[in-house]
Amino acid sequence: MVKIAPSILSADFGNLASALKEAEQGGADMIHIDVMDGNFVSNITIGPVVIAGVRNVTKLPFDVHLMINNPEKYISDYVKAGSDILTVHAEASDHLHGVIQKIKKQDIKAGVALNPSTPISVLENVMGDIDMVVIMTVNPGFGGQKFIESIVPKIRDTKEAIKKSGFNIELQVDGGISPKNAKIAADAGADILVAGSAIFKGEGTIKENIAAIKGAL
Ligand code: DX5
Ligand code: ZN
Repeated sequence: MVKIAPSILSADFGNLASALKEAEQGGADMIHIDVMDGNFVSNITIGPVVIAGVRNVTKLPFDVHLMINNPEKYISDYVKAGSDILTVHAEASDHLHGVIQKIKKQDIKAGVALNPSTPISVLENVMGDIDMVVIMTVNPGFGGQKFIESIVPKIRDTKEAIKKSGFNIELQVDGGISPKNAKIAADAGADILVAGSAIFKGEGTIKENIAAIKGAL
């Protein structure tokens, strides 16, 4: 079954704890947390202090998406804050292999995210070391952007590459997911769908919006 990862980027930060609880009660499989540094991407969001602050609000795994440059400097901070999966961007470090080792040493899962224009060939030499690949279907930086449909073949190719590798790697698709396109992404091979605005700024309650995505699959 495809997992749903609500992205708190579009949640009401004044009531973050209740948004997380509602997502958990609404059937979310994990909480996606977008960390932006105003450098790798132009937007700035939250850091380890806030993540640690809401860690005990829910039992769901924290899926932390680092959109920051030089992530190697901050791995231990985000592990201490309570990350269960830590994803770094392939474009954000000259030492992707080293960063992944740093994450794995802390006994949590490691993910690698690829911007829309980054080819999947950059994963070739790290497939045996990672637990998740994140295919971005928007250019990272902001919630509420349009799903880039031309990336769908890349989702398919990534799924193929994972199968071929024989490693146990989950495929996450992040950006612009809504009930309208969730099936397209899932059929292309997504194991996990991230959705921010469709869940926290959608028409219904958080629970109804998660159900709408699941119902569309
Ligand atoms: C984009 C973030 C996404 C985004 C998803 O930079 O990585 O996780 O918040 O939000 P929506 O679903 O609104 O595109
Ligand atoms: Zn994200």
